[in-house]
Amino acid sequence: MRTRALKAAITFILITTAYADYNETIMQTMYGSVADWVHYSPHPDPSPACRLGAPLRVAYFTRHNATLWDWIAVTSHLRAPWTRVNPGLYQAYGLDTTTANSVWEALGHMLCHMADILIFSDTIPDARPLLQGGCTTPLILQVTNRFDHGIAPRDHDAYTALMSEAAIQPHVWWVLSNPYEELLISKRGIKLPPSRLKLLRPLGMNLLHNGSSQPADTDRSRFALVEPLRSNRLENTVILPWLRSNSLTDNLQLYRQPHAGPAALAQHRAVIAVPYQMSALKMYEGLSAGAVFVVPSPAFLRNLTSQLDASQMAFCCRDLLHDYPDSWQDYFDWYHKDFINAHILFDSWEHLKRLIKDREGTGKLVEEKRVVGKEAMRLSRQRTLDGYSSLYRSLSQQACGMARMERKKGGARVASHEQELLAVISNWMRD
Ligand SMILES: *[C@@H]1O[C@H](CO)[C@@H](O)[C@H](O)[C@H]1NC(C)=O
Ligand SMILES: *[C@@H]1O[C@H](CO)[C@@H](O)[C@H](O)[C@H]1NC(C)=O
Ligand SMILES: *[C@@H]1O[C@H](CO)[C@@H](O)[C@H](O)[C@H]1NC(C)=O
Ligand SMILES: *[C@@H]1O[C@H](CO)[C@@H](O)[C@H](O)[C@H]1NC(C)=O
Repeated sequence: MRTRALKAAITFILITTAYADYNETIMQTMYGSVADWVHYSPHPDPSPACRLGAPLRVAYFTRHNATLWDWIAVTSHLRAPWTRVNPGLYQAYGLDTTTANSVWEALGHMLCHMADILIFSDTIPDARPLLQGGCTTPLILQVTNRFDHGIAPRDHDAYTALMSEAAIQPHVWWVLSNPYEELLISKRGIKLPPSRLKLLRPLGMNLLHNGSSQPADTDRSRFALVEPLRSNRLENTVILPWLRSNSLTDNLQLYRQPHAGPAALAQHRAVIAVPYQMSALKMYEGLSAGAVFVVPSPAFLRNLTSQLDASQMAFCCRDLLHDYPDSWQDYFDWYHKDFINAHILFDSWEHLKRLIKDREGTGKLVEEKRVVGKEAMRLSRQRTLDGYSSLYRSLSQQACGMARMERKKGGARVASHEQELLAVISNWMRD
């Protein structure tokens, strides 16, 4: 231990003294060819980290709190040095070709060189300036329900062309947060590369007021229901009026969005919910925290969507149910085989009424489901963390490989000087 520390100290002194001077010939060779000093900003060279096997730096681009919390958990697993960039602070949603070019012009050199690995989460159009500008830093597009969020109809073709081009770039990798994304993207005519593609679901991390810890005042006797903000959600149009007219509200705690964190939901008997998107953070967060959801069975959901239109029942995927009558559950995470057993399913309103009224029977069922849900999320989290570990390795190798190529091309002479020193140091450290 002491020799390692001593070696590190000596290494530091060696490096600083070796670079205390500079060689003008070398600098001319390296930088003499720079033509555009306005946009000049060097890529941080990962070579020393690559040689020493140290973790590479990540820049995580997101506007969205919950994706950021999830990333914080991932990066703490990876032990990767990282920073966060919030694209909402410098560009609008769904920027078009021209705007993306001006963002690239103004900030691209810096954004592209923020770190050795870049990750774009939340809305994928946020990556547009870098994809259009030709940034070659290895990057991950992490698709979380908002692949083309905000892209105007007149701009769809250009966006699709850009993404098709991105899909064949070896430095662009894809993470899909639920199984529906791939179907959706392929329907746009974009073919994602299987070798650079992973399905990695959210961990369901919530850091809001210690959101995932259990509040003390558990209220196991009552169900919870979150009143959605939008008036055309089934909770508002049908379920609440039905609960009231059947005098079932005594057994119910109502929450208004967004005041229902996973811990609040988990303290209740169960949460009555109607899936309206193929996946929702609410589900992953809730299951992790120990919440149990009471949702329409697949058959009943299908019936409801066919009887009620969008003004009575907002629902993402009527097309999906129609086009894939036998396999739609494979694309719909609430009902996917990895999660469906965690929920209590009701086949009719009568069935829901019985669940609410049979306090003892439902109480027992809920406790069984709570265990199933936690286990489902434990497995899902494990797959996600393993997936990120393997991606991080692949992208690090790519970044290191690119840096090697770069040095061969440009700074061979400079490199030889530094390389000798580093080779000596790393051999010595290994001893
Ligand atoms: C600067 O580097 C060049 C190329 O490696 C070398 O030929 C030259 O001797 C160096 N000059 C000094 C003053 O060290
Ligand atoms: C994210 O968190 C901030 C507080 O840090 C809050 O003001 C903002 O509304 C949150 N955004 C969303 C979309 O919840
Ligand atoms: C979160 O938990 C920590 C440790 O249990 C506690 O010290 C802190 O006050 C909590 N914060 C909030 C906002 O509840
Ligand atoms: C769905 O509707 C069909 C036709 O109306 C009916 O036969 C079936 O029992 C319904 N299924 C459920 C689960 O409600």
